[in-house]
Amino acid sequence: MKKRVLLLYYSQTGQLKDVAKSFVSPLEQREDIEVVYQNIKPKKPFPFPWGFIEFFDAFPESVYMDGCEIEDFDIDENEQFDLVILSYTVWFLSPSIPIAGFLNSPYSKLLKDRPVITLIACRNMWLMAQEKVKERVKNIGAILIDNVVLTDRGNSIATFITTPRWMLTGKKDGFWGLPQAGVAPQETNGASRFGKALVDALSNDLEKDKKPLLRGLGAVKVDEKLIASEKIGHRSFRIWGGLIRKIGKRGDKKRVPVLIFYIIFLVTLIVTVVPITMVIKPIIRKLNHKKVQEEKEYFEMPSGSSRDRLREYNE
Ligand SMILES: Cc1cc2nc3c(=O)[nH]c(=O)nc-3n(C[C@H](O)[C@H](O)[C@H](O)COP(=O)(O)O)c2cc1C
Repeated sequence: MKKRVLLLYYSQTGQLKDVAKSFVSPLEQREDIEVVYQNIKPKKPFPFPWGFIEFFDAFPESVYMDGCEIEDFDIDENEQFDLVILSYTVWFLSPSIPIAGFLNSPYSKLLKDRPVITLIACRNMWLMAQEKVKERVKNIGAILIDNVVLTDRGNSIATFITTPRWMLTGKKDGFWGLPQAGVAPQETNGASRFGKALVDALSNDLEKDKKPLLRGLGAVKVDEKLIASEKIGHRSFRIWGGLIRKIGKRGDKKRVPVLIFYIIFLVTLIVTVVPITMVIKPIIRKLNHKKVQEEKEYFEMPSGSSRDRLREYNE
């Protein structure tokens, strides 16, 4: 019998869709595997490029995973799949609003009792988002067996400029010595190694064990420097997002003054406190070495960062 794989995605610029397509390409070459693509379409599309205020106005609902209304799927919510790939992008340290919309919808039933692989393409801050998705997936009754993450090229400082510039202007090109925005094409192409490993796993019915199938392929790499920043950032987003949500719904003009105040507060924090913490944090990490390593390992679960099977599955 044909194995059925469901690929769920929401992508604004097509970047995540390209990553997901590359990921499943080896599955599509097989007669004994059927890949069903399901685009998650918000009823009211999000803009691209984003307006400055519009962009920040999306943060409270992203962080609280309020979701948005989504269009009906092409498939029935009761359809059965052997494996589900939930690919998503990160918005404000949280799954994007359309993905939250899916997780809050009756279609989330598609994940129930299924082995689920999450596939993320984002700037580089995905830890808190994945914690939230993990919890939702568990509550739905699905089993998260793997997580694969691709991040934008360039270091944190470079992408702090190139990714927002891309989102706010649509411009992706490199400038002033900074790299192009987004995931590098060789990374996108390299995602096919996961599909190759999945072909082997599905041929041997390994998905039925509901255990990781993509270990040893460099599925994730946690940057320990970002763990504390994500935790602090997420806490701040929750406090301020909670307040802004009380003022009105997304798009309500009444939210703008508080949003502007928060943006100024954030920028001030970034130019004053962040440079100081950049000096202090490595010392704290050294002192807490064991705890930091444990946390890194935790966030890298279930697929891990080891690369010992790469040779088997790379071109
Ligand atoms: C509103 C918004 C917030 C974002 N927040 C984050 C973030 O917190 N962490 C991160 O790594 N990337 C963040 N990104 C980048 C996205 O995860 C993603 O890389 C980008 O939107 C391109 O994806 P797509 O065109 O495939 O939808 C954000 C993008 C948007 C539009």
